[in-house]
Amino acid sequence: MVAEIPGTSDVVLIGAGLIGLATAWRLASDGLRVTVCDPTPGAQTSTVAAGMLAPVTEVEFGEDDLLALNLASANAWPAFAAELEEHTGQTAGLYKTGTLSVAYDVDDAAALRRLADYQRRLGLEVETLSGRDARRREPMLATGVTAGVWVPGDHSVDNRQAVATLLRAVEVSGVQIVRRRASKVITSGTTALGVQLDNGDTLHAGQVIAAAGPWSAQLDGVPEELRPPVRPVKGEVLRLRVPEAYRPALHHVVRATARGFSVYLVPRPNGELVVGATSTELGYDTRVLAGGVFALLRDARTVLPVTDELELVESIAGLRPTTPDNAPVLGPSGLDRLLWATGHYRNGVLLTPITAQILSETVRTGSLPDLGKPFVAARFGQ
Ligand code: GLY
Repeated sequence: MVAEIPGTSDVVLIGAGLIGLATAWRLASDGLRVTVCDPTPGAQTSTVAAGMLAPVTEVEFGEDDLLALNLASANAWPAFAAELEEHTGQTAGLYKTGTLSVAYDVDDAAALRRLADYQRRLGLEVETLSGRDARRREPMLATGVTAGVWVPGDHSVDNRQAVATLLRAVEVSGVQIVRRRASKVITSGTTALGVQLDNGDTLHAGQVIAAAGPWSAQLDGVPEELRPPVRPVKGEVLRLRVPEAYRPALHHVVRATARGFSVYLVPRPNGELVVGATSTELGYDTRVLAGGVFALLRDARTVLPVTDELELVESIAGLRPTTPDNAPVLGPSGLDRLLWATGHYRNGVLLTPITAQILSETVRTGSLPDLGKPFVAARFGQ
């Protein structure tokens, strides 16, 4: 039997990844009644990710608006984590280590230098290092590492810990979690009234926020021309365990270019080393392919030979929600009372605090703050 889930909410959020959970927590902290629907809260891309907070090391030529948003969110992370910890009594998983970018052969070193010049022109804090100086910071790096760039402000978050703590935070704040997929936005004319779940049940609310990551363009009820151009880009990630004898294998996040291939290695205090990530466009396929595992291990051991001695604990793949300009889609959707919080591509963990802040402010005030304005769906002609 199809039913309306009892209790009207002020806001219904579609998607309980980091973005959806953080936004729900903010809105509930503002006193709103919030419901989040997701068949598997926290279990998709937010769990697969490595958790780098890398506005500087992942900067791309010509993405200035995105850089400003990324930097604002990196700056917001410490206070966000502290508040989350105070609210729940659990750690948020922020790990302030800085990041070391390294290069292997001469071409890799030239590319690293070009990027460092660009980062400096943007006023970002980077320090160029010789291969030897890079190895002083990370003694287990291969002797073949020829150059490095030290980025003191790029850190990491144990994203699985952050998901667990946000789940606790929303529970403490009285957010209702409905373990169902939202299949449709219910509308009347051009106004969103709530969502229909995959079992036919309905949830009505004054405001709907779609934070459904790579599934955001699949919501029935939203006219085709208003759907955000979000597509999935698969990333395979490995989790290795460093034996006691080799700990810590790394002190910082290490990002490497080895013979033209990119790899990153993210150490956790508990001895886990996260290695990522491949990047392929295969629709919604999340199978881990042998070629992906091979490439990640090949590149990891090129720069960190002790990789051979680490236990391979997990291989997993997730889907980055990607837009044509690599930047997120935030705010107005073209339907009244439906907002987007999606398309975070490589920066979902990083952009969690600022997205929650922008969306909660938009709900509270009825207008998108300036920082969010470059990221409206309308920029794609919607
Ligand atoms: N930001 C890391 C990745 O998307 O692989």
